Amino acid sequence: MLSNCKLIELHRITQPSGNLTSIEGSVHLPFDIRRVYYLNDVPGGAARGGHAHKKLQQFMIAMSGSFDVLLNDGKEKRVFHMERSSYGLYLSTMIWRELHNFSPGSVCLVLASEHYDESDYYRNFGQYIKAAGLSS
Ligand code: TYD
Repeated sequence: MLSNCKLIELHRITQPSGNLTSIEGSVHLPFDIRRVYYLNDVPGGAARGGHAHKKLQQFMIAMSGSFDVLLNDGKEKRVFHMERSSYGLYLSTMIWRELHNFSPGSVCLVLASEHYDESDYYRNFGQYIKAAGLSS
């Protein structure tokens, strides 16, 4: 459900010599971290995502630059503008997501609850809606 998705402020230690931000699985996030990946060099105007996951939970951070995350649970839509590395967006299971408006040089870091598994994806919106029980 979309209401389970939320921005989480990260634990940041600020010193004159710079910032240190730490993220501990199952402490700061509601899952253990099994995989880390990142998106960079996304061309202007390109879109990423366009899928939902059956079991996977994720946490996205704009490590650099900015981008928008559109979430849709079939009933409700919400757009999160990501532009700081001091917080991230938690995505629960069964949420359709699309990422747009990547600024030049932006980097999207993703922490994930599971190893990569293509069979965990719904890459077709109609199939996702059907699986979510929102249409016959
Ligand atoms: P995809 O999840 O569709 O990327 P995005 O949501 O950013 O558009 O994955 C793109 C390709 O990369 C696809 O062929 C699957 C592959 N991939 C991996 O091999 N490992 C991974 O951890 C991820 C996330 C994707």
